[in-house]
Parts: sequence; structure tokens; C-alpha cells
Amino acid sequence: MKMQMTCPCHFGLESVLSGEIKRMGGENVTVVDGKVNFEGDFELLARANMGLRTAERVLIKLAEFRAESFEELFQGVKAAPLEEFIGVHDAFPVKGHSLNSQLHSVPDCQSIIKKAAVERLKERYHVSWFEETGPVHQLQFTILKDVVSLFLDTSGPGLHKRGYRKNSNDAPIKETLAAGIIDLAHVKPFSTVYDPFCGSGTFLIESTTKALGIAPGLNRRFAAEKWDQIPGQVWAQERGRALDLIRRDAEFKAFGFDIDMQAVELSRDNAKKAGVLPRIRFAQGDISNFEPSEEKGIVICNPPYGERMLEIRQAEELYKKMGEVFVPNRGLNYYIISPHEEFERLFGRKADKRRKLYNGMIKCQLYMYFK
Ligand SMILES: C[S@@+](CC[C@H](N)C(=O)[O-])C[C@H]1O[C@@H](n2cnc3c(N)ncnc32)[C@H](O)[C@@H]1O
Repeated sequence: MKMQMTCPCHFGLESVLSGEIKRMGGENVTVVDGKVNFEGDFELLARANMGLRTAERVLIKLAEFRAESFEELFQGVKAAPLEEFIGVHDAFPVKGHSLNSQLHSVPDCQSIIKKAAVERLKERYHVSWFEETGPVHQLQFTILKDVVSLFLDTSGPGLHKRGYRKNSNDAPIKETLAAGIIDLAHVKPFSTVYDPFCGSGTFLIESTTKALGIAPGLNRRFAAEKWDQIPGQVWAQERGRALDLIRRDAEFKAFGFDIDMQAVELSRDNAKKAGVLPRIRFAQGDISNFEPSEEKGIVICNPPYGERMLEIRQAEELYKKMGEVFVPNRGLNYYIISPHEEFERLFGRKADKRRKLYNGMIKCQLYMYFK
């Protein structure tokens, strides 16, 4: 069965995610702000949940229609083929948000959508009451400029939850954003990657799993795995496929440093949990002493960015230091994400390329030095 699917992602990573989806076999892939839409079957749905590195979740799109009144909202939802995915015992809670629309009260929209879903399913299943004791089928809606989109979430906990980062330090970068930066930095199975501000180790762990072809969701479960509507063998087959794609013979290696010994230990623990510790060497170290051990490599990092004035000045000193130790033209490429507007001036060189990315609500730039 072919379905319409949508994956939300970080603003700025749409093209990276659409590339991932196309390589996976997604059809009719289109990009909108913060999302990628595509078509595929149950196999692709399972593969996308397990294998996409930059998607926040995988949603099935059930309906899209204009609504400026509660009646239009009710009728639009009631016309959606909910019974194709929601069984008579399943739970179907509703959540969502509205922006720049006539229908702006989220709790009201939530209860109208629930009523419409109940009405539709009552007619299909000939029952008058739903106990909702079965697996959760989370209905999710967005209303943007009076256009309602209705989705079913197949992922459950967000896909950035890979299972290896139970603990984190103060300012960890989200796994999905880190994976997007790694894609833009062209990390390959034969690369050497450095992160001199490794924190909880995210860039290095994500780089290693990518280089070795380890699917990010291999060790976790997804909401739709409990659904009766998707045959269990689909998930088993896609797990087997993901295992076959692992390249244990890749030459990849990585090095992580942090001034804080606790961060170094945390990175080690996380890398161990992710099963990639043998590929990464961690050590305590100050950026002033950064010295790559190989001739070629890729440096990827998000250096500290202070919120208070004193911290900002300290961060600025670090950016100057980075400009000194990140020597150009030495076979090393540098990818640095920072929200600091003056980064290039402090670092001392204009980036060869820049890209606007959002780290949550914070507008950042990825500064790329590769010439
Ligand atoms: C924003 S965090 C990096 C987060 C990391 N990317 C992660 O995913 O967890 C910045 C890190 O830089 C480290 N740091 C601060 N000053 C440093 C210095 N002079 N040399 C090396 N590391 C430093 C901090 O201990 C902190 O872990």
C-alpha cells in the first residue's frame, strides 16, 4: 500500500533530509520549510524510522484541506480514511498547533478533531464507544494559514533519541542536527574526524555510525511497531536489511577532546553505548594544544557560546584561538556551528561557505572552511 508521508526536520536541513529519503527509495519527494514530503509503502515507513539521520519523526499524512470554521474542520477530518490505520481497540489521542489561522484555539481544535475521528470510526466499526486500550496511534494536526494537515505519528519518541545519550552535558547538540552537519561536511567511510570541543561526543558518535553504515534507530523501537495494521515481518525484514548495510571494514577513525574531564568520560560512555568506542580516541585537552594526528581530516565542532557577558567574552577568546590552531591548507577542512554574528571576524578568516541552521530557536550559521 502506498502512503503519503512527512518528516519534520531542523530548518536548514530540508535538502539533506530529502537526499536521505531519495537514497532510501522515497518517491515524489518534495520539500517545504522544515519538512520533507514523500510517498512509499510500509517497508519504507519502517526503513525511514530506523535509518533516517536528520528526520525528527515519520508521519503518515491522512488529509490536507482548508478550514476557517469548526464545521469545516469537523467535515475535513471526518472525510479522512482513519480506519485504514486505526483499529477498533486502538487509542487515538490528538495533539497539534495552529499558526496565523482563523482556528487558533488549539484545545477547541483538538476536541473537534477528536469528535470527528470518533464519528468516522463509529460509522465504520458500528460501535458507540471506544475504550482505546490498544496501541497508541497519535493523531497530530497543524493549521497553517487556514490549511489543516492531519497526520498519524509512527515514531513515538522523537528520532533524535537514538538510545546512546542517556546523559548529556550542559549544551549538547541535538543528534539530528549533528547528523545534518556531518552530511554537509561530507564524512565518508574512509574519513578521519576531530571534535576538539566534544562535550557528550555527539558529532563523533554520529560521524562513526554514518561512516560505518549503522542505522541510527537500530537499537530502539517505534510506536508503529505495535500496530496491527503493519505486519511484524516488515520490521524484522528492515532490521535485517539495516544489519546487512553495516560496513565493519570501513577505515574511519575519530578523535575527541574537551577541557573538561567529565565531558571526556561522558563521551566515552555514550560512544560505548552506541557500540562505536573502538573507533574513537578521547582525551582531555585545551583547544590551544589542538594538533591533528593525521594529514587529512575533518574538524566538526560547536564551541561554547556564552549567554552572559563574561561568558561571551570568554567564548570570543576561544574563537580567536581557534583561528590560530585551525590552520588552513593543511588537508584539514573545518565545520563550525555558532550563533555568534561576529564569528568570522574573531576567527580571522571568511568562511568558504556558510549555511543558516537553527539550533532549536537559536539562529546559527555553519561556517565551512575547505579551501
Ligand atoms: C557547546 S559544548 C559542545 C557540545 C557537544 N557538541 C555535544 O554534543 O555534547 C562546548 C564544550 O567545549 C568545552 N570547552 C570549553 N572550553 C574549552 C577549551 N578551552 N578547550 C577545549 N574544550 C573546551 C566545554 O567543556 C563543553 O563541553
